[in-house]
Amino acid sequence: MIEIKSLKKTYRERTVLDIDKLVIDDGTILAVAGANGSGKSTLLRILACQLKATEGEIASPENSLYMPQQAYAFRGNLIDNITLSGADRETAKQLLEKLELSHLSEKKATSLSGGELQRLSLCRVLSRKAELLLLDEPTSACDVRGAELVVNAIKEYREENGCTVVMSTHAPALALKAADRMIILGNGKIEADGTPADIFNKPETDWAKSFTAGWKTDA
Ligand SMILES: Nc1ncnc2c1ncn2[C@@H]1O[C@H](COP(=O)(O)OP(=O)(O)OP(=O)(O)O)[C@@H](O)[C@H]1O
Ligand SMILES: [Mg+2]
Repeated sequence: MIEIKSLKKTYRERTVLDIDKLVIDDGTILAVAGANGSGKSTLLRILACQLKATEGEIASPENSLYMPQQAYAFRGNLIDNITLSGADRETAKQLLEKLELSHLSEKKATSLSGGELQRLSLCRVLSRKAELLLLDEPTSACDVRGAELVVNAIKEYREENGCTVVMSTHAPALALKAADRMIILGNGKIEADGTPADIFNKPETDWAKSFTAGWKTDA
């Protein structure tokens, strides 16, 4: 279980994250939505211990894997990029196949397209075992097929490992297809919390209604 209490992140005078209480049950796939600058990456980075909270308490599994918003590649081919994290070649090949990157497996990883690179970054994360996956916008560079592959891979990993997943996204389809629960951040605060379908179809507040109205026209 993840338990967050009175969490704040402040830069100088400006509070960019302000979460009174958030409890995430084990095995949940939680989507974190919200406009640019609403605090999604800040929340994920704090959970990944990449960033220190200004105040508050967090109880969270130590064994977590984090995929940052900016995908990256090391030198070497795609297989090297996965085995570097400790996975064996067979696991690397299976993941590349699952994310439809097998045809590129011997290519230089630094020459991949944005969407390919993002799928490779996910392969690197999924090649290891963890109790908590923290994925910052895992489909932001993907086309429709790529996003579907990413969703399926995340769900399969959760089924196999029983882990919890916290992923930020701007994609309504990703939240609706993959997440059990969604929160929407507005200026660092939780403005909506529920199943993606409920938040999308029956938003409870005017704030959530106007946020999801924008989503409907995007979808
Ligand atoms: N080092 C920093 N110093 C000052 N402000 C910062 C710093 N890092 C982040 N911020 C601010 O914190 C706010 C939240 O940033 P964050 O990256 O969490 O947003 P986000 O919801 O992930 O946005 P996006 O959808 O663009 O990825 C932003 O307004 C950002 O400018
Ligand atoms: Mg972000």
